[in-house]
Amino acid sequence: MIPFIDLQAQRRRMGTGLTKAISDAVEGGQWIMGPQVARLEAQLAEFAGVKHAIACANGTDALLIVLRAWGIGPGDAVFVPAFTFAASAEVVALVGASPVFVDVLEDTFNMDPQSLEAAIAMVKREGKLRPRAVMPVDLFGQTADYRVLEPIVAREGLKMLCDAAQGFGGLLDGRRSGGIGDAAATSFFPAKPLGCFGDGGASFTNDDGLADLLRSIRIHGQGTDKYENVRIGVNSRLDTIQAAILIEKLKIFPEEIEMREVVAQRYSKALSRSNRIRVPHMITGAQSTWAQYTIQVPDRDKLQADLKARGIPTAVYYPIPLSHQKGYRDFPGAPVPTSEKLSKTVVSLPMHPYLDEATQARIIEAVLESV
Ligand SMILES: Cc1ncc(COP(=O)(O)O)c(C=O)c1O
Repeated sequence: MIPFIDLQAQRRRMGTGLTKAISDAVEGGQWIMGPQVARLEAQLAEFAGVKHAIACANGTDALLIVLRAWGIGPGDAVFVPAFTFAASAEVVALVGASPVFVDVLEDTFNMDPQSLEAAIAMVKREGKLRPRAVMPVDLFGQTADYRVLEPIVAREGLKMLCDAAQGFGGLLDGRRSGGIGDAAATSFFPAKPLGCFGDGGASFTNDDGLADLLRSIRIHGQGTDKYENVRIGVNSRLDTIQAAILIEKLKIFPEEIEMREVVAQRYSKALSRSNRIRVPHMITGAQSTWAQYTIQVPDRDKLQADLKARGIPTAVYYPIPLSHQKGYRDFPGAPVPTSEKLSKTVVSLPMHPYLDEATQARIIEAVLESV
């Protein structure tokens, strides 16, 4: 089997620099929230073009603590795409608010502005929930179309929290995913475009007051002193080793995004020749981080089986729209026919910066033969 994501190739490339960073973190003895964490936060903020980066234990917490800081809770509605990873809606439910599901666009997999408008109108008409925030997700690495979403969010007086867990580092008109929205959050789960060797996450904002709240909430609602607790918080500190790893990986991240782009273009050029394959569509001004390379095909089961037989792994993100999952089906939402359709047709192919041309040619040939 060829790897779906080859993290070992990156590990080999990084060599002793990475090993030294890890051993320095161990020798330093401050294993949680050590000095590397503040250094990483400064570098992440600069990279994203935003004032504050607040590191925490995982991407789910990075979203959660923003909702907590905004005081979003029971009776509030947060608009979330139906076609996303569970964490996007989970955090809304965890703070006691209601996720309201919105459909996505068939060509980009990202939040459909018309469906968002319909969902907001529905919530206002029903009068049971207060619209508070919109959470677009930069799915598979491409930013949502913020040029269209931002005016809707502003007109409705809502907050925008961007789920950049997959898109962090991508660009839209020169703005980095992570630096867009009233706040954004990312994940450093190992398989993410910028991942560490365990769990990790970060929230981002230009708002000084919000940044202070996030720093407090991530460590048990602490005040100026460690044992002063001025609010209810969570335990979401980042390990120093993970920060040290991320500092090293951030150095090569811009180059890796370019390498991912080369791989994606090779796929799109070759696969778009078949009229039975729909390749991902890039909106103008966008550069994706290609967290996934996801195509749409009429007979997904056959393609997956054919590729598996030839040692090529595939994955389905996501086989069931979140709004239809058992844990989420009682929450309200707009109709989501596109999410339903995508959940039956999408399939993701091996994608990482170190996918060499010969291996990729093998994958492309197998896909074309199968369809
Ligand atoms: C879209 C999306 N949101 C949130 C998360 C949550 O991140 P984590 O797994 O680090 O909690 C993930 C990744 O797993 C994700 O893909």
